[in-house]
Amino acid sequence: MYQRILEICKRRGITYPSFEIYGGLSGFYDYGPVGSRIKQNIENLIRNSYVIDEGCMEVECPVLSPQDVWIASGHVENFTDKLTECVKCGEPYRADHLVEETVGEGCDHMSISELNENIKELDIKCPKCGGKLDRVYDYNLMFKTYVGPGKYKVSSYLRPETAQSTYISFKRLWDVGRKRLPLGAIQIGHSFRNEISPRKGMVRLREFNQAEVQFFVDPEVKETPRFGEVSSWEVELRDRVDREYKATLEDLLDDGVIKIQLIAYFLGKSLNLFRSMGIDPKLLRLRQHKDDERAFYSTDTWDIEYMSPSLGRIELVGVSDRTDYDLTQHMKLSGENMQVTRDGRKFTPHVIEVAYGIDRPFYCVIESCFREAEDRTFFSLPPDIAPYKVAVFPLVRKDNIPEKARDVYSLLGGERIMAFYDRSGSIGKRYARADEIGIPYCITVDYDTLEDDTVTIRYRDSKKQERILIGDIISHI
Ligand code: GAP
Repeated sequence: MYQRILEICKRRGITYPSFEIYGGLSGFYDYGPVGSRIKQNIENLIRNSYVIDEGCMEVECPVLSPQDVWIASGHVENFTDKLTECVKCGEPYRADHLVEETVGEGCDHMSISELNENIKELDIKCPKCGGKLDRVYDYNLMFKTYVGPGKYKVSSYLRPETAQSTYISFKRLWDVGRKRLPLGAIQIGHSFRNEISPRKGMVRLREFNQAEVQFFVDPEVKETPRFGEVSSWEVELRDRVDREYKATLEDLLDDGVIKIQLIAYFLGKSLNLFRSMGIDPKLLRLRQHKDDERAFYSTDTWDIEYMSPSLGRIELVGVSDRTDYDLTQHMKLSGENMQVTRDGRKFTPHVIEVAYGIDRPFYCVIESCFREAEDRTFFSLPPDIAPYKVAVFPLVRKDNIPEKARDVYSLLGGERIMAFYDRSGSIGKRYARADEIGIPYCITVDYDTLEDDTVTIRYRDSKKQERILIGDIISHI
């Protein structure tokens, strides 16, 4: 299935590997004309869900930041993967992935010495040439560069997460947001990680897209009056001691498995968001990070994972309590005071972070919505996610039919409905093209249209067709 999806994605301008004519570079993917529309729709669903529903502000900051930012955040010291290389052919590997392939899931928290021991005891060799593997060492994932020339140049890094630039502007947001807590800020943009072995297509990229929400809160109020909207939902999970079961978010909170109500709320909200994108909810589960696995900045982290039939487990979002770690670190190094005063108390706000990737949900939407029937393949994308909402076809290229079809296309454009005009090939071929980019409705203009102003509307998922008046198209769809 994976190969068939990739083939359609390339052929239909959804996504394809970057720099193809130069042989490609692993870890980079292009979004084509169709894919970039789907991606924007996914981003907008997340954006609206936080900016409109939760009253978050949106910010956009540079992708390049001076070294001090990453020293303060701890990334220069800690943002590493465990690397080993083949002494014979030089092939680099993530040591935990190699061990995982032999012993099974759950090696990403192993220390360097544990990994060295495992590689020795299990006699793991280079999968490419069978050569011996070298000692494991810490490899920093950030891309380093310099800003400016000569002696004025400033050591800098491409950001590995959007979060830090949002933290740095906290004082500005505090003033603009009229000094209230909770204060939410979302940033959608590119992040970069020099991954050791990018794999599984769009799942592990070196340049990728994130939508990260930072909720600055009073450390004594990590709650929300909206929890009732999700509290009774039953979720599937694997907790930090590897127990797998189903429970409601409320029970998980009452039993102390999820420690913070805001985390439980954002997990429920995110499950709902993924479902509305078209991701199969039966394949989603929560996973709590183990104590020795959590990122250096977090006290409790939960992921939502998608169990892909073709690629295995894929992490889509991480929800963390980052406490006051980041703001405190930036206060120390910059000297800027980021404390606030409320009800006579002076404190540094805590941060609950909801960190969505975009590329992984994108792939999971595509995979979940992929349908194969005897006579066709199509993507059953929800209308909000579909790249175009309607396709418009003139039956023939003569007798005033294209002009009439153009009128229908303009009518849709006038209502700001993204439509796709296609006049080439047989109607059957045009349906196939529309199906393979997930367009929910196709409208055909024919000779009858000239007589009675009706068109044929065809529904993607059922293939059902009916005749409706042009004047009814907008209300109908
Ligand atoms: N600010 C916290 C943070 O960055 P993360 O779990 O490292 O947390 C958040 O990243 C999300 O970004 C992940 O859940 C995933 O969807 C996406 N992501 C991370 N690394 C990625 C990569 N190399 N390629 C594609 N997406 C990635």
